[in-house]
Amino acid sequence: MRAAICLFGLFLLWQPVALLAEMGPLSPSQKRWDKRYSGEHYVYGTAPVTFLKEQINKIPRGKALCLAAGEGRNAVYLAQQGFEVVAVDISAKGLEKGRKLARKRGVEIKTVVADLQKYDLGRAQYDLITDFYYYDPALFKRIMTALKPGGFFIFQNFSIDQPDTNRFGPRNPAYLVRPNEILNYFAQYRIRYYEDTVIDLDEGMHRGHGAVIRLLVENLKP
Ligand SMILES: C[S@@+](CC[C@H](N)C(=O)[O-])C[C@H]1O[C@@H](n2cnc3c(N)ncnc32)[C@H](O)[C@@H]1O
Repeated sequence: MRAAICLFGLFLLWQPVALLAEMGPLSPSQKRWDKRYSGEHYVYGTAPVTFLKEQINKIPRGKALCLAAGEGRNAVYLAQQGFEVVAVDISAKGLEKGRKLARKRGVEIKTVVADLQKYDLGRAQYDLITDFYYYDPALFKRIMTALKPGGFFIFQNFSIDQPDTNRFGPRNPAYLVRPNEILNYFAQYRIRYYEDTVIDLDEGMHRGHGAVIRLLVENLKP
């Protein structure tokens, strides 16, 4: 009996250590985003990106992967639309709020805390992959590989015109899309929609005119 109590004590001590070892120390980026998402309010609101809503009827239901999903507004919307959703982000805090939003709306999303620079997206896994406001062209090839044949990739990010258009959004040109730049990455697939425009945004801290690039690509040859 005493041995069992001792073993149980050791198990309790070991658990948090094992968890910490698995997660490793927080990176500066994780700390920054966790801090940004630490309040009760949703930094980019709880409504999905308008472009996603506009395009949703073109996309057959199935398994969706939301990249850099933040606080889950698009992931939860997709779950409400009947998708089975995996939401990936570097911020555990953001994804925790995403799960809370899902519970409130009576749906489920699976969340994964991971750095997209290292995360394995897999091969021919998804019917839809979303990327809103996270720009890393190195991801595009991995995204198209992770889509099933006929799957869709939907993207919206600020363009290089954003710093002259409004005060929100990144200033660093590495995070802004240049005109026609992304068309080259997807030339071998069917580009169903492309737009380089200024629109009215109402997404929490993105409020007012925003210069954006919007793209919908199907994983089929042209
Ligand atoms: C501008 S927010 C957009 C959030 C969400 N897509 C939306 O539209 O509401 C950018 C997101 O990228 C995430 N992020 C930044 N670097 C990342 C990385 N290396 N791997 C995964 N997520 C990352 C941040 O945590 C943040 O949630």
